[in-house]
Amino acid sequence: MRRPVMAGNWKLFKTQAQTRDFFGALVSSIADVEHCDVVVAPPYTSLVAAVDATRGSQVSIAAQDVYWESEGAFTGEVSAPMLADVGCDYAIIGHSERRQYFGETDLTVSRKIRAVLRAGLKAIVCVGETLDQRDGGGAEAVVQRQLTGGLAELTGPDLSHIIVAYEPVWAIGTGKVATPDQAESAHAHLRSRLAARYNAEVGDCVRILYGGSVKAENAAELLGQPNIDGALVGGASLKAEAFLPIVEAAKACVG
Ligand code: PGA
Repeated sequence: MRRPVMAGNWKLFKTQAQTRDFFGALVSSIADVEHCDVVVAPPYTSLVAAVDATRGSQVSIAAQDVYWESEGAFTGEVSAPMLADVGCDYAIIGHSERRQYFGETDLTVSRKIRAVLRAGLKAIVCVGETLDQRDGGGAEAVVQRQLTGGLAELTGPDLSHIIVAYEPVWAIGTGKVATPDQAESAHAHLRSRLAARYNAEVGDCVRILYGGSVKAENAAELLGQPNIDGALVGGASLKAEAFLPIVEAAKACVG
């Protein structure tokens, strides 16, 4: 049985004060939650506030990106050891917005993942096809290429520090959610690729999250699919009262 993961990705939202307010509401409300891991990814400038506000709770903090070098003349970048230093446990890597607007490629994703693991953090690795790619029948090939390229050079044991997030680009921030069947079929495909590339145990153990317009109203049905082990939630993770019922919906996970 894979332990569900419910992760919030705040993107470019929230000051430190707003971060403290959010966790003031969330942390006490999920004090009894035992059915899943909860991860929240604030922007860099709110990471310290988030780590402070969640200390001693079951919420883990993620960065939304990272640079692959540990230090050096790389103006504007933040390294994995720096994220570990401020108390992050995870980094999201390869989000489609990074791929689309900031030139992220499978090669940079792979470098970043290896840097994250070297620093003792875990990576949430995002893959997903665009609408054109889906309509052209190439969705499986795209996510397979992203998965293989991103995980290049990783060994089976490394995969225990990896969470995969399947996020069809056409469903992100659009209100257009993948149907449970569409999501389940992509997840099953990704899991079979992991098993083929590594071994059956890796295929069984890696948690695969769905992301793209997840809300309280659609979460339970998605999470009830056998290969969906949690969610990566954007817009609906910005308010504690919207995120909480989504965390509750992880009880529907059956994997
Ligand atoms: P959304 O974003 O939930 O707002 O669609 C998901 C994501 O980008 O991770």
